Amino acid sequence: MHKLGLFQTLNAFFQLRPGLVKPCRLVKPMSVTILPERSSHHQDNLPKLPVPPLRQTFERYLLMLEPLLSEEEMDHTRKLVKEFLIPEGVGDRLQRSLERRASNKENWLTEWWMQSAYLDSRMPVAVYSSPGVVLPRMTFQDRQGQMRFAAKLISGVLDFKQMIDNETLPIEYLGGKPLCMDQYYQILSSCRIPGPKRDTVVNHAIGKVAPTHITVVHNFQFFVLDVYNSDGSPLTVDQIYMQLEKIWNSSLQSNKEPIGILTSQHRNTWGKAYNNLIKDKTNKESVRAIQKSIFTVCLDAPMPQMSEQRYQSRVAAQMLHGGGSRWNSGNRWFDKTLQFIVGEDGTCGLVYEHAPAEGPPIVFLVDYLVEYMGRMEVVRAPMIPLPMPPKLRFNITPEVKKDIESAKQNMNIMSHDLDVNVVYFADYGRNVPKAHKMSPDAFIQMALQLAYFRMYQMCCSTYESASLRMFALGRTDTIRSCSNESLKFVQAMEDLAKPNTEKVSLLDKACQAHVEYTRMAIHGQAIDRHLLGLKLQAIEELTSMPEIFMDTAYAVAEHPNLSTSQAGAKTDCVMCFGPLVPDGYGVCYNPMADHINIAITAFNSCEETHAANFGRAMKKALRDMRSLLEETAKAKQ
Ligand code: COA
Repeated sequence: MHKLGLFQTLNAFFQLRPGLVKPCRLVKPMSVTILPERSSHHQDNLPKLPVPPLRQTFERYLLMLEPLLSEEEMDHTRKLVKEFLIPEGVGDRLQRSLERRASNKENWLTEWWMQSAYLDSRMPVAVYSSPGVVLPRMTFQDRQGQMRFAAKLISGVLDFKQMIDNETLPIEYLGGKPLCMDQYYQILSSCRIPGPKRDTVVNHAIGKVAPTHITVVHNFQFFVLDVYNSDGSPLTVDQIYMQLEKIWNSSLQSNKEPIGILTSQHRNTWGKAYNNLIKDKTNKESVRAIQKSIFTVCLDAPMPQMSEQRYQSRVAAQMLHGGGSRWNSGNRWFDKTLQFIVGEDGTCGLVYEHAPAEGPPIVFLVDYLVEYMGRMEVVRAPMIPLPMPPKLRFNITPEVKKDIESAKQNMNIMSHDLDVNVVYFADYGRNVPKAHKMSPDAFIQMALQLAYFRMYQMCCSTYESASLRMFALGRTDTIRSCSNESLKFVQAMEDLAKPNTEKVSLLDKACQAHVEYTRMAIHGQAIDRHLLGLKLQAIEELTSMPEIFMDTAYAVAEHPNLSTSQAGAKTDCVMCFGPLVPDGYGVCYNPMADHINIAITAFNSCEETHAANFGRAMKKALRDMRSLLEETAKAKQ
């Protein structure tokens, strides 16, 4: 169970009467430096993403494969790499084309990445792509509390939006270097649109007339809520609260068609259903209003009661898929970039469509909102009567009805298949690895390696996201957490004959190798995106696919049984996402100072994976690693 901490302040706020609150602008978020220059100027000065040297990438590729393959397989791959790297051969030619592309574009990778990782993917965005964020449980247990919370949250997002609109967002830093802030400009007023073969994302914030409304969905019914007064000022919390009340009261019936569930379908299916839906003019206008809205707020119905122990896991599932067609899956528009979810039972969090942005900007926004909601002046605000927020109408033709029924069935299969386990690891947090002079991120990654090795007696291809935001329009590359060093460490941990001093030394080396890979990745020198670039370049040039990309070794590397990411926040929250492969785990963690929140997902349809077992293995690995360090340190004294 999560500790409340910061959220006690928030909850204290929600005990206040709705008419008595006024937001107080947050002046300076703590973890970032506010620079005098405007963001656009800052953006212009960011370096371009480099294309790493060809031979460096393949040397590192072979090293990365070593713990995953047999000697025989390695020999085969070494031969293919050698052929690929023949001087003036295919490799050199593709590399030159890639370098040309890099000199002609602001970022040689970003468009390709967005297409191949997100927009070309035909899997549903719910569960398979969109991450969720679980916030600690609020103390409200009724609709007044839900509405008050939602009103303040909306006001907080509008406050944040002002910084985006004025281009005064504080610039973030990583390793002392300023980061690209572009993703912040992509998360509001944007939406994914399904296509028959490839999706697109529209960003209405950059249009001539910026949207002034959000969408609110309650009991599967969507409403347009204009959040600005005619003078351009944002509605006050009280005004928003009153509007939400009106929305609630005019959507009491819960027997409406869950139109939003269509967006949870396989993308080809949804692409076809979308065309059916928008044939009707009213439907088209309603869909467009959702797509254009600044963001969506989902006022969720209460979910089945759970034990306190399972509560966070249940909420993570609610964020990822809504719980199935009987519950809140129809209370979403999964294509919408940003959807905040507030349940009547104190549940809150969000789900976001991944194509336009990574987790860190979203988590930064969450931190901002929490700060914002915790700081307030209590002032009576004047009440100006506002018109009823219009309900979006949908004409449900027999064809659309059929599509909805099929989406309901698929969603129910998908939600039953997702195994979610949120672990609150209370023993320690970043403090322990730091005290032992180890990188907390590397330490947690080694615990993941150990947990996996203990469960499967082998290591696996592991993906950890690394930020490329040091570069203009940078997204992510991959840290390969499974290394020769990590393998030696986990093998030693399972070897009773090995002395503790040797295990500590191997842990230290494994962490150092991880830190080195991280450093390389965030400086644009990792291997995964370079390999992707070479492959896509070959496709673009219509040459035959180089054999290295048809090799089993490449398929092994591209099948990360552990898909992981750190989404560090000041808020006691956790991000979650589904596994990347059918027999894998999705693991996202937030290492707080004194505890770690970990969200683990797997698929129930895979007999070999089990999110709760992995959670237990992870806890044991973290405990054993701490004991190892402490006992060894004591023995030295
Ligand atoms: N001894 C003591 N302290 C150490 C240490 C050592 N050897 N190594 C690191 N630390 C400290 C750091 O100084 C830092 O201190 P702080 O808490 O005061 O800031 C802290 O430990 C954390 O560092 P570390 O655990 O090494 O990781 P990181 O914060 O640098 O994060 C990544 C590593 C890979 C997560 C980060 O670089 C990144 O790329 N993040 C983006 C991930 C992303 O995009 N995810 C997508 C989600 S959808």
